[in-house]
Amino acid sequence: MTTSVAEKPKSSEKTTRKTYSDLGDVAVSAISTELNQLLADVFALYLKTKNFHWHMTGRHFRDYHLLLDEHAEQVFAMTDDVAERVRKLGGITLHSIGDISRHQRLKDNNQQFVDAKDMLGELCADNQELTRLLRSAHEICEQHSDVATASLIEVWIDQTERRTWFLSEIVRELP
Ligand SMILES: [Fe+2]
Repeated sequence: MTTSVAEKPKSSEKTTRKTYSDLGDVAVSAISTELNQLLADVFALYLKTKNFHWHMTGRHFRDYHLLLDEHAEQVFAMTDDVAERVRKLGGITLHSIGDISRHQRLKDNNQQFVDAKDMLGELCADNQELTRLLRSAHEICEQHSDVATASLIEVWIDQTERRTWFLSEIVRELP
């Protein structure tokens, strides 16, 4: 059977979503939406963690500065996996800093000075919130039988809970 000219995609349609997986359009759309919001949150958390790494002060400067760099590295490592998961499903992911700011749920901190305890406390709360958001994304994946994304999310939850553990232990001891 030959393909007529009318059936060929127009150049303007090249960027439209194409579903590669067997999950179906409804699932791909729901999971991609969820993952894109998570991607924006993860970029926001990455930059806040770096921001606090750069602006850390006080007598435990070295410890906290290094801890936050370790955390930032782990958070940044998630970004490529989240975005490529969306593409593997056939969805469209984020394109720019503007896209990040339109999708992020975790809040930025643009204050000129934040003391060490407040920095660590805020990151602890953000990581706890990220765990909740990851759990809710996991539920959506389960509803649509997307076991591969669910499995990645389980690892990210474990990593996020580890960061929360370290931060909460430090904050608990600070005066
Ligand atoms: Fe650094």
